[in-house]
Amino acid sequence: MKILCLGRLPQDMEETLSALAPIEFIDRTTALPDDQLIAALQGKSIILTEPQDGLNEKVIASAPALKMIAQRAVGYDNINLPLCSQRNILVSNTPGVLDNATADLAFALLLACSRRIVEADSYVRSGQWTGFENDLLLGTEIAGKTIGIVGMGRIGYAMAKRCQGFGLKIIYSRSGDQGRTDCEIEIDDKDRKLTTELTAQRVSLETLLKNSSFVSVHCLLSKATTELIGHKEFSLMPPDCIFINTARGKIVDEQALADAIFTNKIKAAGLDVFYSEPEVHKLLLAAPNVVLAPHIGSATAETRHAMAKLAVTAVLQAFQEQIKPPNLLNAEIWTDWQKS
Ligand code: DGY
Repeated sequence: MKILCLGRLPQDMEETLSALAPIEFIDRTTALPDDQLIAALQGKSIILTEPQDGLNEKVIASAPALKMIAQRAVGYDNINLPLCSQRNILVSNTPGVLDNATADLAFALLLACSRRIVEADSYVRSGQWTGFENDLLLGTEIAGKTIGIVGMGRIGYAMAKRCQGFGLKIIYSRSGDQGRTDCEIEIDDKDRKLTTELTAQRVSLETLLKNSSFVSVHCLLSKATTELIGHKEFSLMPPDCIFINTARGKIVDEQALADAIFTNKIKAAGLDVFYSEPEVHKLLLAAPNVVLAPHIGSATAETRHAMAKLAVTAVLQAFQEQIKPPNLLNAEIWTDWQKS
C-alpha cells in the first residue's frame, strides 16, 4: 500500500501516517494538471488532498488502486463525491475543528472593513498622517446593526456567536432556502434553539439581503449555491452594506461584486476566497474598500494541525483499526468498502 499526500503535513502527523505505509509528498499551491495527478496516483491507495486539488471524474476513473480520499478541509467541492461512492472510494473531510479559526477570520475581515484598518495602516506607513483629525478615516459602527449570515452550519454558528458578542442583531438563511419566500420557510428545532440562544431569526435570502448592514457567507459550494450572490442579490443589499466571504469564491459572481463595489451599491467587501484562486479580479485588487486575504480562514497553527490530525486519524481508523471514521462524507459505502 502507498499514500500520496498533496501539500505538507506537520512532522508528528507525517511520522504517524508513515507507520501505515510509505508516503509520497507533492508540494504544490495550485491544482496539479490532471495528467500529473493521474500519474502520481498510480499504485496509491490513499490520497490526502486540499481544496485546490481536482479529484474530478477523469482523475478518479484513472486511479484504479484508490481506496480513500482524506480531504484536509471541510469543503469538498473539488471532489466528485457521487463518483467516489460509486467506485467504492471512501471520502473524509475535517468538520468541526476549523470553525473558530474561520469565524475569527470572517469577523476580522468585518472589523477591517468597517473600521478601514488596511486603509489606515497604508495611510500611516505612507507618511500621510499629519495629526489628529476629527473626521479622519471614519468607519461604521457595528453594535446595533444587523448581520445576515448565509449558511448556518458550524462556521455560520461560530460567526453568529461572535456577532452576538459585538451587539449585532442576527438574521440568517439556511441551505435550501434559496428561492423561498419567508412564508415558505419551515422553522425547525435548530431554528428555535438559535432564536432562544442568540435571538437569531431565520429569514429568506431576499429578506436577509434587504435588511443587513453586513452579509457574511458561510455555506458550502454546491450546484445550488454556485453564483448564489450575483447582480440581483447585490442590488438588494443596502448601500451601506459590508460583504464578507470566507466560504468559497464561486458562491459569488465576482464581476457582479466588482460592479457593486465600483458603483457604490455596497460599501465594502472582505474576501478570503476567490472565483479562480489565486487569481483576483483586477477591479477588486484596485479597490481601497476591499480587504483581501489569500484563503487563510483556517490558517492558525492549532487548526491546521487539528485538520491534519483528523485526516490522518480517519485513514488509520479505516485501514488499521477497521472502524468507521466519524467524518466520512460517504459513510453509506462503509460496509461494502470493508468487504472490498
Ligand atoms: C475548508 O476547510 O474548506 C477551507 O477552505 C480550507 O481550510
